[in-house]
Amino acid sequence: MDDGKSVRTIIITDVNEPYEKLMPAAKCLAQGGLAAFPTETVYGLGANAFDTNAVKKIFEAKGRPNDNPLIVHIANIASLAALTAEVPDYAMELINTFWPGPLTLIFKKSPKIGMDVTAGLHTVAVRMPDHPLALELIRQADTPIAAPSANLSGSPSPTKAGHVIHDLNGRVDYIIDGGCCIVGLESTVLDVTQYPPVILRPGAITPEQVRTIAKAVKLHSTLAIDSPPQFSKTDTIPRSPGMKYRHYSPKAKFILLEGDIDKVIPEIHRLAEKSVNSDLKTGIMCTDEISRKFDPKKYIVKTLGSQNGANEIASRLFAVLRDFDAENCDIIYSQTFSSDDIGFATMNRLYKAAGENLIKVF
Ligand code: TXA
Ligand code: MG
Repeated sequence: MDDGKSVRTIIITDVNEPYEKLMPAAKCLAQGGLAAFPTETVYGLGANAFDTNAVKKIFEAKGRPNDNPLIVHIANIASLAALTAEVPDYAMELINTFWPGPLTLIFKKSPKIGMDVTAGLHTVAVRMPDHPLALELIRQADTPIAAPSANLSGSPSPTKAGHVIHDLNGRVDYIIDGGCCIVGLESTVLDVTQYPPVILRPGAITPEQVRTIAKAVKLHSTLAIDSPPQFSKTDTIPRSPGMKYRHYSPKAKFILLEGDIDKVIPEIHRLAEKSVNSDLKTGIMCTDEISRKFDPKKYIVKTLGSQNGANEIASRLFAVLRDFDAENCDIIYSQTFSSDDIGFATMNRLYKAAGENLIKVF
């Protein structure tokens, strides 16, 4: 690491800029340092996956519990061989269809990849990100890169370089600024060590898309709330350590109101009024369509976009949660959003952020 206080931030806002700009960060990764970089999903905090010391630094920088394994990022399919013990045929078809892209696959691990990366598991998570800067950085570093999301453990994943700087400044060697992440939610995590494969974390690649290629797919039993009814749940639960941690939470208390929107709006009004009367700085998160129903003089009203724009809602979610914190909100009330397509992943993150603060409005 540098002097431990400041981070060298390489700013690359135009993907057409010369890739030489990445060289110091790539070299730093190859030599055991930490570099945060953009992907199409969220920013990642990278280290050489074969370097035990470097991997240890990731856990320290994030304050990440060391029983939560990391995803290994690669830039070409040939790199899989050194990481995995077995790639089923149907997994290869998924790879050919969705890589590079927001799909992480869990394989039986090869002995070459350390238990530090997999947190003691005999499986390894691998993905090829669909972002030119990420791919070029991995190529130049010339090693698979272990990278969790580049946030402090427990806060929402970063979708802009500014979020990474906010959380990790002084804890990492480089931050590459590639602008906003297009998807904005972390990748779909799919366990392909069994058949049918099991979705452990929903993301932009939907259960339906996986099923089209793999012919069958299951959802992990923890995804039961609001899951599409046509997908069966697992009977046996594969271990997925990340799931037990509370995630994506803003500092403000986050309250999610579920139900018919015509009933949810008056209930948000009632609760938000009560909060304001108790001197709480009160935020409301909603769609464009209903935002004008809330008085911006009384509340901090932030929209995620149109109710019909599932992709925009997903891509803005984490940034908006961070914006509420930046304005020192004490409490946030949110409606639910469509769970179609990527909306299933958006709602998964919102349920996690709310925890027990989920109110069903009848
Ligand atoms: O989109 C993404 O996946 C981003 C970007 C940077 O690629 N990365 C990301 O990493 O979200 P992270 O560490 O924040 O989330 C990885 C998730 C965790 O829930 C972890 O428990 C799970 O993947 N995971 C990793 N290895 C696993 C394994 N061998 N078995 C089961 N779950 C695993
Ligand atoms: Mg994360």
